[in-house]
Parts: sequence; C-alpha cells; structure tokens
Amino acid sequence: MKNEIEGGRYIMSFPKDFLWGTATSSVQIEGGYLAGGRTPSIWDNPPQGKVKGDANPQIASDHYTHWREDLALLKELGVKSYRFSLSWSRIMPSPGQVNKEGIKFYQNIIDELRRLKIDPLITIYHWDLPLWVHKLGGWLSPKIVKLFAEYTKVVVDAYSDKVQYWIPLNEPQPFIMNGYMIGKHAPFKFRPLALPKLTRHCLTAFNQSAAIIRKYAKTPPKVGIAMAAGAFIPEDESEKAIATARHKSFYHKGGLMSNRWWSDPLVKGKRVRAYGIYSLKRRDMRAVQTKLDFMGINNYSPFQANWHSVNENISAEQKNCMGWVNDGRALYWTIRFFAERYKLPLIITENGTCDHDVVVSGQVNDTKRVKYMQDYLANLKRAVNEGYEVLGYQYWSFLDNFEWAEGYGPRFGLVHIDYETQKRTMKQSAYFYKEVIKTNGENI
Ligand code: NOJ
Repeated sequence: MKNEIEGGRYIMSFPKDFLWGTATSSVQIEGGYLAGGRTPSIWDNPPQGKVKGDANPQIASDHYTHWREDLALLKELGVKSYRFSLSWSRIMPSPGQVNKEGIKFYQNIIDELRRLKIDPLITIYHWDLPLWVHKLGGWLSPKIVKLFAEYTKVVVDAYSDKVQYWIPLNEPQPFIMNGYMIGKHAPFKFRPLALPKLTRHCLTAFNQSAAIIRKYAKTPPKVGIAMAAGAFIPEDESEKAIATARHKSFYHKGGLMSNRWWSDPLVKGKRVRAYGIYSLKRRDMRAVQTKLDFMGINNYSPFQANWHSVNENISAEQKNCMGWVNDGRALYWTIRFFAERYKLPLIITENGTCDHDVVVSGQVNDTKRVKYMQDYLANLKRAVNEGYEVLGYQYWSFLDNFEWAEGYGPRFGLVHIDYETQKRTMKQSAYFYKEVIKTNGENI
C-alpha cells in the first residue's frame, strides 16, 4: 500500500504526471435543456418547494453555448485533466434513439480538450436520469441495468478512441439515498425500505457498464467509480486512536452507510448487513463485484459522531456556506483508510468548498476558499509523501453551478458565474490553483 522507493525513502513530491484538474457535471452547468434534441432529465422541472428559490437547471451556467470559452479558461488554469459528465438524455433522448447532435456536443469538447492537451475524465452518469428512463421505473426497476449498458455502449463507441478514464457512476450514496429514500433529491421519492433493491440495481448497472467499457474501448481504459467517501479523524496520532477512527470510518453509522455499504460489495464482493433490513443477498455478489483500476474519492468534510451537536461548537469560519465542516485532515485520513482497505490507486475526483462569492471591481477575493485549498492540498501532499498512491486531484468545481436542492446559492467554482449575464470571472482561488499546478504542488 505504501510505495517506498529505493533506500526506503518516500516519494517527496507529486508525481510528474499527476492529474491536476477540476470537475463539473452536465446538468449542473450545461443548460440548453431542450437544445439540440435533448429531452428533460428528472432534475429539469423540480416540483414546487423542492429546490431553494424554486430554481431549476434549465439554463444553469449555460456551458452549452459557452463551452469553448470555458475550455479556454481551463487552459488558462493550466489543468492537466478535466472531469465532466455526459447528459444521458442529450445522447439518448428517447428509448433506443441515439441523438447525433448530442454525441457531437461532447465530441467537440473532447477534441478541444485533446487539442489543449487536457485529459478528459468522463463520468457517464452524474444524477441526471432521463425522464423517459424514470418513467420506465428508473433505479427502482431492474430494467435500468440493460438501459445503462446500452447507453454505455453508445458513449464508448463514440468517445473511447480519445478517452482513457471512465467513471460510470458518480456518488451512488446521495442519488440513491437522497433521491429514493428521503425524497430530498430528484426524483423525490420516499422509499426507505427499497435500499437493498436500489443498491443491487445500481451496483449491477455499474458492473455491466464497466464490462462494456473493457470489452469495447478503442484505447486501453481505466475504470473507476466516484464515491462519496469520508473518514473520522483520529483524536491523536497514536496507534490506538488511529485504529478507532479506522474502525468507525467503516462500521459506525455514517461510515457504514456511506463507505462500507457501497464499496465492500463492489470492490471486495463482500455483502454488508445493516440495521436488520438492509442486506444484500449472497447471490448478488457475483453480479456486483467489479475490477477497478482506481477508486474515485469525493471528499469534503470529516465524519462526526453526532453531526448536529458537534457542528454547533464549530465557528462559521470553519464551515462552508452549507454548514459543512472544513478540515483538511479529512482528506488525508480518507485517502489513508481507503488505500488500506481497498488497495486501489485513488483519484480525488471531488474536493472543494462553497461560499456566497461576489465580484467587486472585477475581482473575486475568495480568501476562505484559498485557505481551504491550502489546508486540503497540504493533507493530500502528506498522503502522497507517505506513499499512498494518488493519481490525481479534481477540484470541485470548475464553474459556479446548480447545487441540486440548494439551487444557485452555494458557489463552489474556481470561476464565478454571473447568472444574469453569464459573464465568467476567475476567482482568486483560480489564480492560486494555477500556481499549485505550475509548481506541481511545490508551493503547498
Ligand atoms: C457531490 C456531487 O457529486 C456534486 O454534484 C455536488 O455539487 C458536490 N458534491 C457538492 O455538494
């Protein structure tokens, strides 16, 4: 797990080919929700009262028309890679229909990224289920496995000559749990007892999608998943405290439902029982366990035993604008515990913070975000120095965007979006990150 180099010394800086990058997702930035033959996803027309300010992502950051300007900004940032997702209903607007214009939209993006020498990391599904798939039962129906496989085949045929990194699913935890168990996210269902079925469909669909990528990719693929991953921070760095935090990170309530419930079956083929009712069947494991080339880690905050009471004692300065605790050690311990448990190379597929950033005299002085990045990146560097195999880091997010049920209030971007004019402004954090990339992390 620890990659010692000769002489027993650890690698002392980021590898030369480290994938510095930044991430987005289709429905959060694109807009153009009916343009070029696209049909709606489950997020485009949220029922009243479900999204703050009754916002919707129909226009969002209008990346659909500004994509070329946006990719030029990526070049300006100097990123080596860019993680983005495909809109299923842009590519397949109805059952069995492949939309040439939709295919072309991402083709253009991939070609331009290649020209700019930026590696595309493609997320195939980032929560924007086509409405037509939802009407066929969505993630509640076993049909999703075949439908997702068909969609995967279409995108692999279209893009795999120029794409190496594939992430079939982003964060199953929230889209299944928020979407189908507690009704907080689209499609706003309340079916808590359906978790075993939803998990089975989700992980089986992932497995089939990965198999299709491996079978049909025109260039040797690297397949991973982006997990909503987290860890408890040990109280001190004694072996005892570390062992306690490690155990809680996979067995305590939050860790169990977020980390172990999804990753143990997928990576180890190990079924997980929880709360008596949530148990996957032994016979499902063969259809679920999947060979991964890397594990994607989406990490924001440390796990806490009692989220609310602990949170109360934490100052606003240490929290993001949605109340999440900012503590860079969360990233170090998540990397360490995941590397130890799953023995896979990691890519930090998301990490970032939000604020209510404003443009003043043409500038966005998001000093809090810069501090956040310094803290989290120092912890990332510690993990790399200690030899944990991390292949890349994708800051979430490239652009300010539609933050799901929170609407447009929280801004996560390195680039500010004026939603009235669609003007883009690089924030102070973007200039800071540019320096990080330029020095390959030496300035951390
Ligand atoms: C997780 C999700 O993948 C992304 O879509 C979301 O915007 C960020 N985290 C922040 O909540």
